[in-house]
Amino acid sequence: MRIIENHSLKSLNTFGIDVSARYFAEVETLNELQQVYDLFPIETTPHLLLGGGSNLLFTDHYEGLVIKINLKGIEVVEENESEVVVKAAAGEDWDQFVSFCVLHGWGGLENLSLIPGHVGSSPIQNIGAYGVELKDCFESLEAFEKDNGQVRYFSAQACQFGYRDSIFKREAKGKYVILSVNFRLRKKNHLLNLGYGAIQAELQQRGVLQPTIADVREVVCSIRQSKLPDPAVTGNAGSFFKNPVVEQSVFERLKAEYPGLVAFPDKGGMKLAAGWLIEQAGWKGFREGDAGVHPLQALVLVNYGKASGGEIAALSEKIKASVSKTFGVSLETEVNIV
Ligand code: FAD
Ligand code: EPU
Repeated sequence: MRIIENHSLKSLNTFGIDVSARYFAEVETLNELQQVYDLFPIETTPHLLLGGGSNLLFTDHYEGLVIKINLKGIEVVEENESEVVVKAAAGEDWDQFVSFCVLHGWGGLENLSLIPGHVGSSPIQNIGAYGVELKDCFESLEAFEKDNGQVRYFSAQACQFGYRDSIFKREAKGKYVILSVNFRLRKKNHLLNLGYGAIQAELQQRGVLQPTIADVREVVCSIRQSKLPDPAVTGNAGSFFKNPVVEQSVFERLKAEYPGLVAFPDKGGMKLAAGWLIEQAGWKGFREGDAGVHPLQALVLVNYGKASGGEIAALSEKIKASVSKTFGVSLETEVNIV
């Protein structure tokens, strides 16, 4: 393992922000991870863990150590006639892992196709798309505890998953390095999740009457490619904000005033489509320098080339203030601002 000084992070974050790390290390084994923490104790050096860099916004150079988690490996750890438990190391590419599962006929993750990033980051915000969340197939994970170097096991219950949320964004924030994740998947009698309108419509258009998990994966990939900007072309980190969940009474007041309001029932109230709120507040397609709001999906902020993280963060604050003023609704940032 090499420690590199003043290493560029531009190609390592999907926003394409041009910053560098004072120190940078790529770790491929638990041993190397332990060595890194011995060399740079957390009491003296700030640390930042990096997966695929697809949920981060760098607002400055990082004056500490960036550790890229490159642990690899996929193995079956338990199997019976109907189910399989698969363990994937933190550094595995998320979509390649989903593709591997679909190819083996293991169902459960297909709706989460094409989400960028690595397996190790996937439980942190309980990634979700098209009616499925990671928690639906999650079995357990192993994590390295930074304070004492112990490897700890977390059950689904211990992770306290919620909408784009887990214990790793709250009490356990910054305390663990996720090493691997176990998923429980179905080998047969797949429970297809076709509830998201666009999936049904696309399957029908393709004339697929009895979809398989491979069909669902293909359709989800196609919908995503038509809606979301490709970070290889235009820098972005997916949805910049979470969809706000409001009480029923707030929803009813807003719906009376704005009949077009898009919202879905959610436990504890109604989940409002933040993209709709941002669009109605007039921000869709807005551009200031190289920082902008995507013209097809107002929930996605973009870097058209040379925007700084500060410029994108400043734009996000203006959007928050505008949505709050127009609708009285607070938007919470999904992306990790560093
Ligand atoms: P990174 O950005 O590298 O890191 C995210 C956070 O996790 C950071 O705080 C980092 O320090 C920490 N971290 C990284 N690795 C570890 C580890 N091993 N242990 C502990 N902490 C760690 N998300 C969705 O939920 N649904 C979507 O549909 C979706 N669509 C997207 C579409 C696009 C085009 C883009 C660019 C992003 C999208 N995202 C989506 C967001 C993003 O892909 C996910 O949040 C993903 O899980 C981030 O993974 P990553 O490896 O890139 O994390
Ligand atoms: N909408 C608008 N204008 C816009 C964008 C959206 O009016 O500019 C409305 C549309 O009516 C649409 C509704 O909002 O029907 C929902 O839009 P979409 O289906 O695109 O989903 P989203 O709520 O914007 C969420 C997730 C995505 C995930 C998709 C699909 C959050 C914060 N975002 O987006 O996740 O891929 O659903 O399930 O929950 C991410 O987290 O980074 C992410 C991309």
